[in-house]
Amino acid sequence: MGKMADIDEVMYSCGLDILHPGGLEKTDEMARLCKIGKGKKILDIGSGKGVTACFLAQKYGCEVVGIDLSEKMIKHASELAKKRGLEGRVSFRMVDAHDLPFKDKSFDIVLAECTTVLLDKEKAFSEFLRVLKPGGYIGDLEMIWKTSPPKKLVDKVYRVWEGFRTMTLEEWKKFFEKMGIINVKTVDFSETIPDMEKAMMKELGLKGMIKMACQLLLRPDLRKAMDEYRKIFREYSEYIGYGYIVGRKRK
Ligand SMILES: C[S@@+](CC[C@H](N)C(=O)[O-])C[C@H]1O[C@@H](n2cnc3c(N)ncnc32)[C@H](O)[C@@H]1O
Repeated sequence: MGKMADIDEVMYSCGLDILHPGGLEKTDEMARLCKIGKGKKILDIGSGKGVTACFLAQKYGCEVVGIDLSEKMIKHASELAKKRGLEGRVSFRMVDAHDLPFKDKSFDIVLAECTTVLLDKEKAFSEFLRVLKPGGYIGDLEMIWKTSPPKKLVDKVYRVWEGFRTMTLEEWKKFFEKMGIINVKTVDFSETIPDMEKAMMKELGLKGMIKMACQLLLRPDLRKAMDEYRKIFREYSEYIGYGYIVGRKRK
């Protein structure tokens, strides 16, 4: 994995436990639209530090399997599940989202947060649908384009955010439908995050910001990457939005 994974790791180590916009409040909203509940089996794609998986298992009494490509994230997530006494119901595996080691029709809900934008979407969603039970729900929370972006911006985020590709919510809906997903709903919550940079800084707090500045001092390559990463939010805020898409696999 590249510099973005290192940046994620720095942000995580400085206290940013959740790397998706809207935090657990939006996770919860999306999960409720997916009819989460006791006894349901959930797959969390790109589970990061495991905060979403542990939150859902604790709040709804469901079983959650998180998968992530990063060994470090799997370690962090497994430690969190252990700390919260959730080992029996929450587990994590180091797995590529494009090639899931699960049987067909084995999950009630597949969720992803800030991860499918990094994937080969057709390949990944084919896998998500394969492991989802008929009638099961799929929810994806991502940074979206509020309005069609200029090609210059699309190319820039693809380069700076290492393979990142998102769409407008209308395009996401069309993509879900093209994959055979039915009852597709989209929710745009862009207006709740007018400034992503500020939201991240607030989440980090003063201590976290100082810690991050110190870590970046030791890694000039990462500081440069981080500056470029943040500059996109500043320069192109009129195009950057946040939302989620929920739909169902046909019965
Ligand atoms: C921006 S983070 C989001 C983490 C978490 N979902 C959250 O909201 O805090 C993206 C995560 O996707 C993981 N990831 C990237 N490519 C992946 C792949 N091909 N398969 C599985 N996980 C992947 C990264 O390791 C990282 O933990």
